[in-house]
Amino acid sequence: MQLAQHFDDEHIPDDDEEEDNITDPFKFFRVGEENMGTRDLAKSELLSVLPGQHYSMNGKSLCLEFSSNSGPISINLQVDASPGCGGIVWPAGQILSNYLIKQGSDFMQGKRVVELGSGTGLVGLIAAKLGAGRVWITDQASLLDIMQQNLSLNRLQCNCEVAELNWGTSIPTAMSSPDVILAADCVYFEPAFPLLVRTLDSLATDKTQVFFCYKKRRKADKRFFGMLKKKFTWHEVMDDPNRNLYNRESITLIKLLKVV
Ligand SMILES: C[S@@+](CC[C@H](N)C(=O)[O-])C[C@H]1O[C@@H](n2cnc3c(N)ncnc32)[C@H](O)[C@@H]1O
Repeated sequence: MQLAQHFDDEHIPDDDEEEDNITDPFKFFRVGEENMGTRDLAKSELLSVLPGQHYSMNGKSLCLEFSSNSGPISINLQVDASPGCGGIVWPAGQILSNYLIKQGSDFMQGKRVVELGSGTGLVGLIAAKLGAGRVWITDQASLLDIMQQNLSLNRLQCNCEVAELNWGTSIPTAMSSPDVILAADCVYFEPAFPLLVRTLDSLATDKTQVFFCYKKRRKADKRFFGMLKKKFTWHEVMDDPNRNLYNRESITLIKLLKVV
């Protein structure tokens, strides 16, 4: 099984570590970078995971430019680590955005799309730019302001909206049974694993395409996939030309299919 090999030889967090994780979720992301603020973001290797990813940064404004067959696609984002880890852009989000762009706008045309754990809103905003019929960019309450700012900055209010969706809580009726679910870098905090699985299960039908880009950080992530496999099967997306590059960073893009 292709996924299993990613989980072999890292430590299992002990009880103290689990406690720290609850009080400081950013702890999961500090791999040699103590302050993952917006200043560091601009210099960070995070933005150079994808070859040809152009970006510019002015204060807290990040402009990302993706290349596509029909010309460059730009997105402007306010980034701010203060409301939580979702306030900055993560490589998994860039990778998933880039993959959707490479699929071209035909794929997204008219689709109903829900993004989970959107953070800045990047991936869902890209889906909206690509012509989705309706997109919901969702996250916890603390991220709603930044998502709303980014929605306005990119003038996508006609087919995209911001909504609070805490994993494990009930799904607003309007967004039920979407054609596409997007999730980037949502596996990092173990207490949230069952909640995320519950939300994926509540939202998806057997026809929903779920694009799930994750970074393997620790052995405990395996427990997420143990829970997920009761509800979904999955396979790695193989037609992304950048796959080998981001696999080297322990990032994988998979597509989930609901077990019925
Ligand atoms: C590492 S960030 C990734 C943000 C964005 N998807 C990206 O790739 O740039 C993880 C996101 O999951 C959200 N999140 C974590 N736990 C959540 C929960 N219980 N309910 C809803 N969102 C949650 C966080 O607020 C954050 O925006």
